[in-house]
Amino acid sequence: MCGIVGYVGKNNAVDIIFKGLKKLEYRGYDSAGIAIIIDKKLEIKRSVGKLCNLGAMLDKNPISADIGIGHTRWATHGRPSEENAHPHTDPTKSVVVVHNGIIENYIELRNKLKKGIQEFQSETDTEVIAHLVKKHYKNNLLSAVQKTLCELKGSYALGIVCSEEPDKIICARQDAPLIIGVGKGENFIASDIPALLPYTRNMIFLENGDIAEITAEKIIIKDIKNNIRNRGVKNIRWDAVQAEKDGYKHFMLKEIFEQPRTIEDTFRGRIYPDEGRVYIEEIELEEKYIKDISNIYVVGCGTAYHAGLVSKFLFESFAKIPTEVDIASEFRYREPILNEKTLIIVISQSGETADTLAALRLARSKGCRTIAVCNVVGSSISREAMNVIYTHCGPEIGVASTKAFTGQLTAVYILALDWGCKRGKLTNKELRKYLKELWEIPLKISEFLKNANDVCNIAKIFAQKKHKRDFLYLGRHINYPIALEGALKLKELSYIHAEGYAAGEMKHGPIALIDESMPIVAIVIKKSKVYTKMISNIEEAKARGGTIILVSDKNNKEIAAKSEHIIYIPQTDEFVSPLMTVIPLQLLAYYTSVLLGCDVDQPRNLAKSVTVE
Ligand code: F6R
Repeated sequence: MCGIVGYVGKNNAVDIIFKGLKKLEYRGYDSAGIAIIIDKKLEIKRSVGKLCNLGAMLDKNPISADIGIGHTRWATHGRPSEENAHPHTDPTKSVVVVHNGIIENYIELRNKLKKGIQEFQSETDTEVIAHLVKKHYKNNLLSAVQKTLCELKGSYALGIVCSEEPDKIICARQDAPLIIGVGKGENFIASDIPALLPYTRNMIFLENGDIAEITAEKIIIKDIKNNIRNRGVKNIRWDAVQAEKDGYKHFMLKEIFEQPRTIEDTFRGRIYPDEGRVYIEEIELEEKYIKDISNIYVVGCGTAYHAGLVSKFLFESFAKIPTEVDIASEFRYREPILNEKTLIIVISQSGETADTLAALRLARSKGCRTIAVCNVVGSSISREAMNVIYTHCGPEIGVASTKAFTGQLTAVYILALDWGCKRGKLTNKELRKYLKELWEIPLKISEFLKNANDVCNIAKIFAQKKHKRDFLYLGRHINYPIALEGALKLKELSYIHAEGYAAGEMKHGPIALIDESMPIVAIVIKKSKVYTKMISNIEEAKARGGTIILVSDKNNKEIAAKSEHIIYIPQTDEFVSPLMTVIPLQLLAYYTSVLLGCDVDQPRNLAKSVTVE
């Protein structure tokens, strides 16, 4: 996730672009840059770190122009550095590109281009686009971009300018947001509304496959084959604060709703269900090592620890590798038996959690290979781990983790499938089946989110005083960690005590707590080997007077008879189901917190990144 802004018109593009990027800093902030055209020449300013660094550079050496594009980066390919900061240009410095998204086939394209003695200045997937546009350029920028797009696989929102056509911006969209701001004698592009609100409220929302040619006076939208596409202009009434949250009341809600896209971004370019193939470019473990792994320790804190608990089921079932999961603050102070065949996986959204970092260092000191599942490129954990698989979720602003969690689940699911194949424990048929299940998840979550209000209605009942003493969350098998995660979300957001429990364990103690005032959230998955067991556990709770809130994927009579409060979710395979079952639990915690008047995005006593022990 990165932020793009572009401007063409009579005012100073640099000012407008810089202020726009400031509004998009939430989309990424590891480096930034601006490109403008002055007297048919490109000028590019880039700097690593937060946008203020670029600001200082521009203050020192002010520049101005009537056309330009800018970018604030959230690294995906290539570490945060000045060379990897956008905009990127071709070797002759006539075409310049800003990009948000991932070009899946950039290595293949790079290799092809290298044969034509093209030099690359960065490690990014984006630079190849500038080279290709230049290659195809024959006095028509639009046509060169169209030809380039035919070669790209992946997702993109693009802003492109060329010194030979200094009056226009070409932009294009495929699976990444891009809007055009319509002005008078000036026009704009941006990744998101807040960047443009000070200048115009009239916006065109590009759709997949759209390519626009924008001058100060005209906007023409076409497709790759040069057919005109008509897109209406919408008048945006949001105020600036609403716009930052994309119209959602809180960042957390926005982030919950982003999950179909962020999950897709995490698996994009890594899984190919039709071919039955997994490709994780950044993990450099030889097949022999993978075959020889004796055991895995997965280490993390809080929500990341819960993702670890889910991963145990995946590594053991798919790859047949014994897996232990540890809370980082415990792991670092015990004496785990580690050797060179032990693989350590640390999971962390921020990549800065002190205990997780210490656990990673301990593992390295014992000679173990290490992998980080991490969201923040360039963070301490991502730098110190031997391998990193990034969850491409973009910045998570709500303190309670939501989209980062489902990104972590997606990443470990892919790793487990890959190793299952490499260790000969999964057939290609099984691999295809599980990949297809994952592939379908974003759509299923989107479907479910259309009925988010049903969860709100349940929250309205249980946020009332007579119920709000304690909650119990029950799950079994791979959904036991989701019960823990659901309880954690409710606790941290609404300050209601909640406990997650393995449903089969309830009768060994916690059942004593159950009475009429105790709401019990139970996760039941039809395609599960513990389905009937789970039903029995629910009966046990009901028999003690507990009020059951069911999360279930089966709209059948048997389930309907168990409770009047049922949240139906689309059906999935059990192994991928945590990605689905956690969504209603995130929403339940969110709505309960809102109804109780709590600070959803910044719950008391918490911090987004816990850098102390
Ligand atoms: C809960 C939550 C925390 C974090 C934990 C680890 O919603 O966000 O429990 O999961 O502090 O943080 P990271 O993943 O940054 O290491």
